[in-house]
Parts: sequence; structure tokens; C-alpha cells
Amino acid sequence: MFGGCEFRKIPVDQAVGLSCDITMKLNIIPVKWSDEGVLMLDQRLLPTEEKWLTLRTYDAVAAGIKDMVVRGAPAIGVSAAYGIALAARTFVGTNVDDLKDEIEYASDVLGKTRPTAVNLFWAIDRMKRTFDQAQAEGKSVSEIKQVLLDEAKGIHDEDIESQRLIAKFGGELLQDNSTVLTHCNAGALATGGVWGTALGVIRGAVDQGKSVSVIADETRPYLQGARLTAWELMEDDIPVTLITDNMSGHIMKKGGVHAVVVGSDRIAANGDVANKIGTYMVAVLAQRHGIPFYVAAPLSTVDLNCPTGDDIPIEERDRAEVTHVKNNQLAPDGVGVSNYAFDVTPNDLVTAIITEKGVARAPYIESLKKQFDK
Ligand code: MRU
Repeated sequence: MFGGCEFRKIPVDQAVGLSCDITMKLNIIPVKWSDEGVLMLDQRLLPTEEKWLTLRTYDAVAAGIKDMVVRGAPAIGVSAAYGIALAARTFVGTNVDDLKDEIEYASDVLGKTRPTAVNLFWAIDRMKRTFDQAQAEGKSVSEIKQVLLDEAKGIHDEDIESQRLIAKFGGELLQDNSTVLTHCNAGALATGGVWGTALGVIRGAVDQGKSVSVIADETRPYLQGARLTAWELMEDDIPVTLITDNMSGHIMKKGGVHAVVVGSDRIAANGDVANKIGTYMVAVLAQRHGIPFYVAAPLSTVDLNCPTGDDIPIEERDRAEVTHVKNNQLAPDGVGVSNYAFDVTPNDLVTAIITEKGVARAPYIESLKKQFDK
């Protein structure tokens, strides 16, 4: 039981006690804590292989985040929290100030992995504040180790509970017998697990007895839609049709999309939304065709310190993701390449933002702030 909500599927493995890389059946909780270290479902291999990695040091966790073993903003935040708990657990010594140095160093390493997903920095800050409070209370090194682990587990539990509430509020916005288009993977795989944000909204509607089918953009260049969203929804028996990214306009024009639901990596105070590259194009098309464009994200994704989308750092990734698919070369050697991982959808294209506190609508500068006060 996580966050007080029942699993939609009974996990086949119980995670604890895995010793090294093990291939196992699906369990849509992509990151877990165990006595051995942090367990991550290797999302680089999906959908053809289901393999778990055991990461025993914080820098292995950082590498796992950077290399996309785990991805999706909330899942990155949960992983970073566990990474800091791991840094504390592997610390040898009894001096609290030395432990503080170690936590600071680990936070720095983890914070250099993915710049756009604000949940990463949110989780690191929360773990550092927890450390500071425990130190101020005069706790010993071994007590602080336990406090940090409890906090990381709390962040994980809260994330799953937030997704459950997003699913409930968002599910209410979708009509029965509707087709929803989504971009990238904002599912259980991208979060602490179980529901997901955008896919949580869809799961929420299905749980409310509605019939919903999904159109999944393949999401070039990393193909999170084709590899992960299609796989996740099929595992849940939710009807899904995969399209290439350039097909959505045609399908919208024919009346084949009733709503768009996406996740986010960072939402600015004014409601501008950073999400997977290509989201902005989908939002423009949705507006052209009068289709509601919903964003689903926990408040840990809302960054009130970023006044607008222009203040959000946009990650640029390796050129090989564009020129190759796995080891297959698609483009001529030496061609110029851009590989922006995210774009920003301006708030006027966003119909509503669904968080664990409810549904926020424009003007977001007010409605988002109110959600923090609830
Ligand atoms: O590069 P990724 O796969 O980490 O990008 C993920 C996304 O853009 C998701 O839509 C976003 O993180 C929201 S996940 C609930």
C-alpha cells in the first residue's frame, strides 16, 4: 500500500531484497527503495525488456536520472530524494557536519542531471531542509540517516497520493465515449507510480465508469509515446492508438480528438507550461480546432520562482537522439542538429491545469497561488 491508495494491479515482485540486475514482470512503480539500494525499472529498454537495476550509490542514481533509466519530472524528484537518502546511508562516520558536506555534495551531483524538471530541485531542497531541521534538533548521524530515508519515502507516498487526486479531479473533466490525445509519457512510469499525471486523468475517467480511448503521439526523438505510453495503457487494457507526431493535425481536423491531456516538467507562476518537445505544436492545433488542452501536474511541478516560461531552462540533449534510433543511423554524418528536449506552451493555450488541489483556470497567476494556500 502506497499513499493510502490500493494498487490497480497487484505487483508481481515485491521489490525488496533484489540483489542485482534482474528481469521481471511489470510493476508500474518505476522507482523503489530496498535494503540493497534504489531500484529502477530501466525505461530505456521498454517495451521489449522489463529489467530492474539496483543502484547502490547516489552517483549511480544521478547517472540513472541523466541516462533516462528513470525519467518524467515526478519520478526524477522521487529518485533524487532516494539518492540523498542513499548518500546518507553510505556515509561512514559520526560527525554531523561531515554528513552535511556529503549531503551537499550529493545534492550538487544530483542537481546537475536534468535542468528542466523542477521536481528534481524541489525534492533536493526538501531533503536538505529536512537535514537542517534534524541537525538543529541535535540528532545523531544514525538518527539523521533514518530521518532522511523517512522523508524520501514520504515524498514518494505523497507523489502517488497526488496522482490519485489528479486522476479524480481530471477524470471528471473528460466526457464519456471520448478520445484523448496525449504527448510523451506522463504515466505511472513518469511519476512515483500507480496513476501518472496525464495518464492518471485518463485512468481516473475510466475508474469513474467512462469509456475513453487514447491517441498516443510517438514523441520523437526519444519515443516515450511509442515505447512507454502505448505499453502502459495496453497493460491497463485502455484502448490506445499510436500515431506519428505529424498526424495529430489531420486527426483533429476530422473530429477524432475530444481533449488533449499532457503532463509538465515545470509550470511557471503565470501558467506557462514546459513539457516534452512538440507539446506546443499540439496546443496550437488544439486551439485551432476548439479542443480543450489540459495539463495535469502535482504542485511540486509548479515553480512560483519562475515568473514566466521564458525563465524556464530548456534541456538540450545529445545529437545522436535525432540522427539515430538506437543504433540505426537515419541522417547523414555531420548534419547540423537541434535537440531541444522541451518546449513552452503559453498559458493562453491552456484550458486548465489539474493538480492534487483541484482544477486551476486562467488567470493562473492567481489560481495557481491559491492552490498552494489550500
Ligand atoms: O524527457 P522526459 O521523458 O523526462 O520527459 C517527460 C515529460 O516531458 C513528461 O511529460 C513530464 O515529465 C511530465 S511526467 C508526469
